[in-house]
Amino acid sequence: MKKNYLAIFASGSGSNAEAIMKYFFHHSQIEIVLVLSNNERAYALERAKKYNVPSKIFTKTQLQNGEVNQWLKEVNITHLVLAGFLWLVPEIIVTAFPHRIINIHPSLLPKFGGKGMHGHKIHEAVVAAQEIETGITMHEVNERYDEGKILAQVKCAVLPTDDATTLGERVLKLEHEHYPKVIEAWVTSSADRPR
Ligand code: GRF
Repeated sequence: MKKNYLAIFASGSGSNAEAIMKYFFHHSQIEIVLVLSNNERAYALERAKKYNVPSKIFTKTQLQNGEVNQWLKEVNITHLVLAGFLWLVPEIIVTAFPHRIINIHPSLLPKFGGKGMHGHKIHEAVVAAQEIETGITMHEVNERYDEGKILAQVKCAVLPTDDATTLGERVLKLEHEHYPKVIEAWVTSSADRPR
């Protein structure tokens, strides 16, 4: 069985990155080999150390001029996982990994998605709109924010007593539970498709 090598892109806390590293720690087909961040203070980098996963920090120029692509090539990366990565993925990366980049968004896309919709803002908007349910969306990544093919969505209730904080906590829990499993299914099914 062919092995798949994943790199995680994270800009911040990295709680999803950690859930993913934990899930795949002893996996026979999937290995997390690199954590990449645009932010040298990202706590995701500390979490990578805990799982002995090497990490690298990059600038926008390095992302856009192909340097990051080169790093990914050096360690035979087959798939990219975005976990709280705030920059738009440039075309040079998208073209190098067609249908091989996945992201998670903490709302039921296309609702509450798009440029500028991240973190607390999303849950604030959901509460303000008096939605009765929200959830998470896992999707492929293209050159536009939150517009790639939807792979899976999981819902949860918005309670009348919720504020953005309580709602955010419920949604984040859902992310940790489902994102690793969706990545596993997506990677193993894409292994049959030509690269
Ligand atoms: C998560 O809510 C994820 O859906 C979004 O950014 C947040 C990252 O959280 N894309 P963390 O850094 O994984 O804790």
